[in-house]
Amino acid sequence: MIAPALYSLTRAARNTVVQIQKAVRRHLTASVEDGKYVLVPRDGASKSPPVKTTMKFPSVWLRDNCYCEKCFHQSSKSRRIDWDYFDTEVLALDVQFDTVTEQVVIKWSDQHTSTYDLKWLSEREFSDERRQKYLNSFYRPKPKHWAGQQLKEIMETFQYQDVMRSDDALRRWLETLAVRGVAIIEDAPLEQTVVRQLADRVGFIRRTTYGEEFIVQAKPGAKNYAYLSDPLPLHTDLPYYEYKPSVNILHCLVQSQSEGGSNLLVDGFHIADRLQAEHPADYRILTETLVDWNDIGSEDGRSFHNIWRAPVICLDSDGNYTRINHSIPQRDSHFSVPLSTVLPWYRAYAKFVRLARCDAFAFKTKPGDVLTFNNIRLLHGRTGYDDSEQNVRYIVGAYLDWDIIYSKLRVLKSAQPGSGGGCDAAE
Ligand code: OGA
Ligand code: ZN
Ligand code: ZN
Repeated sequence: MIAPALYSLTRAARNTVVQIQKAVRRHLTASVEDGKYVLVPRDGASKSPPVKTTMKFPSVWLRDNCYCEKCFHQSSKSRRIDWDYFDTEVLALDVQFDTVTEQVVIKWSDQHTSTYDLKWLSEREFSDERRQKYLNSFYRPKPKHWAGQQLKEIMETFQYQDVMRSDDALRRWLETLAVRGVAIIEDAPLEQTVVRQLADRVGFIRRTTYGEEFIVQAKPGAKNYAYLSDPLPLHTDLPYYEYKPSVNILHCLVQSQSEGGSNLLVDGFHIADRLQAEHPADYRILTETLVDWNDIGSEDGRSFHNIWRAPVICLDSDGNYTRINHSIPQRDSHFSVPLSTVLPWYRAYAKFVRLARCDAFAFKTKPGDVLTFNNIRLLHGRTGYDDSEQNVRYIVGAYLDWDIIYSKLRVLKSAQPGSGGGCDAAE
């Protein structure tokens, strides 16, 4: 596009001005460093006041992420560049920045030419700030840990009908689960199907040995410790699975009118924080020692014998918590560790259990409440209760998995107007 003022010039003069403009743009805007890096102005050259900072991209990464038809399959949103012959030493020979379209055009040493939108590039910048923003807002919201006495302040409640009808309410519920690890959905109908409807709203139920939906009720000859009316000590569900179900949905249809039946909740990440600060040696033991978690039984005529070995506090390579495992009933008598590990581990575990017990916050759900919480992070329990003939406590449960929840959260965020969350066509 030529600025209107240029039309008053002769054609030759106009061409000269355009050439100079192009040269200046090239000079001021994108550039190449040794062919190995491409520098692009952070907010584009067209912005005023003039931009001083630049974004730096490795050539190899840019070439790998060319999103032309040949390198990227548009409808499946998948890379299709031929990596059998991909040249990791590829050089950027020339880079042009078009201030009108806000696109960067790069000519490569392998004869290919790629075009990148400035917006697309800035969403993928390698700066610490940009990466943290992407990781904490779009990849996975950053958890905020809490102590038991804060539970009342941080506990958010949502209306069942809002969550079912409004995408905004659904997004806020899932975001709260990701950040705080717990939320209550109130005023659900007293129907068996509620947990399935909530799960379907997010994605689908995670099935376990105990089925898709399960009933938590005191039963004679209980096949699971939770199906007694005894106190249920703090625990995470299903630690004996490698792929442990992520979020519990517990819908209260009938609550006990006896003293008990209250839920207990503790933020396991907060207990791990405290252990690390107050008993660092015990913390290390609980992050390193593999414990055998197990569950043996049969359900619907199918026998099972589940075992998974994992520490109480699981960490990723950055030292972030990935999962807490804790269940006294579901810990195997096999403890496949060297003899010298056993005593120190017991002492460390007892510290963890006691810190958690002192931190536990008790509250009683009422019929129509759906308690939802992160089973990878929170410990939960229940005080003992007494059923009577007229009053039989009745909870319907189901699980969801984080893969499905995070995916739904990203879809909902991307659909928000002006989301700019980093989820665009080539994501
Ligand atoms: C469980 C459980 C809680 C409750 O079934 O694992 O923790 O409120 N139940 O009964
Ligand atoms: Zn390409
Ligand atoms: Zn449980």
